[in-house]
Amino acid sequence: MTTLDDIRRCAALLDALPDPALLVGADRRVITANSAARELFAATLDGTSVVSHIRQPEAAAALERGFAALAEGTGSRGPFEARMVLTASSREALWRVCIAPLRNDLGVPALLVTLRDISHIEDAEQQRRDFVANVSHEMRSPLTVLSGFIETLKGPARHDPEAQEQFLDIMEREAQRMSRLVSDLLSLSRVESEERVRPRTPVSLSEVLRATLAALRPQIEDAGLAVEFRDLPDAPAIPGDRDQLVQVFHNLVENALKYGAGGGKIEIDIERIDHVPAMPGPALKVCVRDHGDGIDPIHLPRLTERFYRVDGHRSRAMGGTGLGLAIVKHIVNRHRGRLNIRSTRGEGSSFIVMLPER
Ligand SMILES: Nc1ncnc2c1ncn2[C@@H]1O[C@H](COP(=O)(O)OP(=O)(O)O)[C@@H](O)[C@H]1O
Ligand SMILES: [Mg+2]
Repeated sequence: MTTLDDIRRCAALLDALPDPALLVGADRRVITANSAARELFAATLDGTSVVSHIRQPEAAAALERGFAALAEGTGSRGPFEARMVLTASSREALWRVCIAPLRNDLGVPALLVTLRDISHIEDAEQQRRDFVANVSHEMRSPLTVLSGFIETLKGPARHDPEAQEQFLDIMEREAQRMSRLVSDLLSLSRVESEERVRPRTPVSLSEVLRATLAALRPQIEDAGLAVEFRDLPDAPAIPGDRDQLVQVFHNLVENALKYGAGGGKIEIDIERIDHVPAMPGPALKVCVRDHGDGIDPIHLPRLTERFYRVDGHRSRAMGGTGLGLAIVKHIVNRHRGRLNIRSTRGEGSSFIVMLPER
């Protein structure tokens, strides 16, 4: 027989577990439960019927298999698993329920029911699926264009040099788009895999910005924009990865050129700040500001997600891959820095990168 003491010992044991756990008798009533379970289901669980708490069909069926296993000699030994959606502290979460029959271990037959929140695993899986779907979609459109024109060049346009030249130009553009996509994907995966390793080589941000602007000179001239660069000549070198920092400002200035061209000028300035919340010491702050159309606030929180674009059509027409800001964010994270985006519709946008000096 199970004594009151045994149950108390079980309760103490269950309470030491971080995940919700319930001990249920063969009569389907809760013998004891830990505080995580009480938080999830109800303040008082002892003595209540477990089937009133675990009702979703898949989980209820797993419970029944558990009870069948308790009735000695029948059914398999378990444990039995199921997934169920429950709302915990007003957040909907996906739980894995595990039901382990304890036939003799406690003197009375009982089921140990444990739950684990697997929402984050599910979210990561979903993100991975979305990513693969996005990459495939981005690859498919240039490929469709290329195979279409190859057909045309082999058939109807075979003897039409004028059309051939025109089609080859389009094909070249689409091939370049694919190649940009592949190199952005490779950058992203490289930065992501190195994200935990903070780069330590001393880097001069002034030099990084001058090099970035020199490389973008042709695009700046094409866009007919004035770029005002306010340097900070005595800025200290910061620990970093020079080539990745060039990539950060290349992407930000390129975006300002593409989406902020209406504003006439782009301002870039370096500033030193003594204190940034959650950063240990002083930092260098670089602001890339345009006076273009700006971005609606609803888009701001998602702007650095891979393939997120405010206007997909416009981005693609400009040769964008939708990965630029995702790369920026990962590089800034790797540098233990911070990226802030401020924007007002009709007035322009500021992309602010803060990088710790030490
Ligand atoms: N300076 C800016 N002004 C307005 N919109 C911007 C600006 N920078 C980025 N965006 C928006 O954010 C989206 C994501 O940018 P990014 O990740 O660099 O991808 P891409 O430039 O390849 O489209 C862009 O498609 C654009 O809609
Ligand atoms: Mg971009």
